[in-house]
Amino acid sequence: MEFQPSSFTHRHLLGIEGLSPWDIEKVLDLADNYVGLSRSRHKKTDVLRGLTVINLFFENSTRTLTSFELAGKRLGADVINMAVANSSIKKGETLIDTAMTLNAMHPDALVVRHSDSGAVKLLAQKVNCAVVNGGDGSHEHPTQALLDALTIRRRKGRLEGLTVTICGDVLHSRVARSNILLLNTMGARVRVVAPPTLMPAAIDRMGVEVYTNMREGLKDADIVMMLRLQTERMQGQYVPSIREYFHFFGLTEEKLAAAKPDCLIMHPGPMNRGVEIDSVIADDINRSVILDQVELGVAVRMAVLDLLTRDRRGDNDDLGGKL
Ligand code: CP
Repeated sequence: MEFQPSSFTHRHLLGIEGLSPWDIEKVLDLADNYVGLSRSRHKKTDVLRGLTVINLFFENSTRTLTSFELAGKRLGADVINMAVANSSIKKGETLIDTAMTLNAMHPDALVVRHSDSGAVKLLAQKVNCAVVNGGDGSHEHPTQALLDALTIRRRKGRLEGLTVTICGDVLHSRVARSNILLLNTMGARVRVVAPPTLMPAAIDRMGVEVYTNMREGLKDADIVMMLRLQTERMQGQYVPSIREYFHFFGLTEEKLAAAKPDCLIMHPGPMNRGVEIDSVIADDINRSVILDQVELGVAVRMAVLDLLTRDRRGDNDDLGGKL
């Protein structure tokens, strides 16, 4: 029998890479416990009382930043959102000097988003607190993959054995990369669909099936995850036109007909309607779980902050403290 640690032993959450199936289940189980708290009238507990969480986002965010702020506050922590635009970074201070400056104020967790792949890992080597990757370049976005997994598990009852098709700008997507790693770890079958210009070289080495045709990639899929064209990471033209891209790679009712009738529609957001997804599909209340993903993002981030701060709280309560 494989050895299972009695607690989540990771100091940081920098990526899905390095997490075991047990680690992933641990986060998802704890997040499941926190969903009820967020739905209740009194949304607060004191699991993180006295602790400080700093959100340091060098890239724009709606979902990740807001949900980490809510997650920290609902757990009773003091949460600071550092406004990078108004910070000394604008005066030339480096990422590392900024991190060490914040570290000197004794935070218990830093949540960092940065445009450079690897920047969050570098920063984690310089500070004493837990570091959570809120998305680094096109590398990883681990809490997105965890919230996607929780959404699927709550709807389908499992991850193992499901066929998940990830469509769109796979090349620039940290969401795709983290999801591929997580879904493979949990025994799902992963397909990617993209035009050749937006497919990473050697993607097949990540253990996925590769398609350039939506209908083929969607055939009998249980889940479809749509990705935005990440124009902010593009230098040059990757698609002939938005109109042509939507024609071949936009999710429409007609293309979705190739998937299973109960196929779930997912999107990490932000969504560009009429570019990668038809509005009718995005708003289909029977199949679209896009807003469920947003809701469960808060619970997953509560679970991550809880698990990563247990050592400093001297708490290894599997039930996530006082729920
Ligand atoms: N999915 C995601 O990371 O969204 P934000 O950029 O709004 O945080």
